[in-house]
Amino acid sequence: MSEVSFENFGHVAKKVGYGNIFISSSRYNFQEKFIPILLNDIKNKLRVSHKDTLLDVGCGLGLFLIPLSFFCNTVVGIDHKNFINQIKSNFKFIIKKNLISGNFLKIKLNRKFDKILIYSVVHYLSSEKEFQKFIYKAISLLKHKGILLIGDIPIKEYEKAFIKSNEGKKYYQKIEKIKKAHKKKSKAFGISNFLKNRKKDSQLVTIDLEMIQNLKKRLNSMKLKVKFLRHKKLTMFNNTRIDIIIERK
Ligand SMILES: C[S@@+](CC[C@H](N)C(=O)[O-])C[C@H]1O[C@@H](n2cnc3c(N)ncnc32)[C@H](O)[C@@H]1O
Repeated sequence: MSEVSFENFGHVAKKVGYGNIFISSSRYNFQEKFIPILLNDIKNKLRVSHKDTLLDVGCGLGLFLIPLSFFCNTVVGIDHKNFINQIKSNFKFIIKKNLISGNFLKIKLNRKFDKILIYSVVHYLSSEKEFQKFIYKAISLLKHKGILLIGDIPIKEYEKAFIKSNEGKKYYQKIEKIKKAHKKKSKAFGISNFLKNRKKDSQLVTIDLEMIQNLKKRLNSMKLKVKFLRHKKLTMFNNTRIDIIIERK
């Protein structure tokens, strides 16, 4: 993955932590109202059950991991140590050995999972090759009949169309205002200098429809049930993002 973004996330997590879970997960406070809707959507798409062992890759501070822990038998979370250490000290009911620090691509896991969630993560990888590697690794960790949800993937063409639309123009004006207000907040959290000086990540993958088509072809040739679903309008990032649901047959 792109180590620059991973370390940037880790830095913000350490400074801000639960002081603002939305800043730590790169979201805006006005999007808070969508979280319970997303949680419900994730539960439905993964068909979460009390018997499940669920892996959340890139779990951040546990925005979904913690509530999902009430609906599953066991949850396992992976992310940068600055997120994982905070979950460990704030949510003692999650077994420590199930909170794993590090880059998913480099971690060796010796168990399989009924459900795997990768939410709002894959666009922080550095190339198409890494994007595919990430997904194939997750598939290899699925139990028979297990389900993987790779959610909230921004698609270049959908974002471009949204930016040009009237709704998009209004949305981005709002974001600009929020960004200005954010500057004050980041001062309060002591991260304004960091945000100004942080290393720009020039290696981030851009996910476009061609990449999705390539992935579709490869997944369809494997023994999997695969669905690609576009987000609806008036959701957190409007209809610019997609979810991929992969089920082992
Ligand atoms: C936008 S946040 C999303 C957090 C959480 N999934 C959510 O939806 O609230 C992206 C998260 O992915 C994590 N991440 C990115 N690449 C990763 C990797 N290779 N291994 C583990 N975590 C990763 C980042 O550290 C960050 O916490």
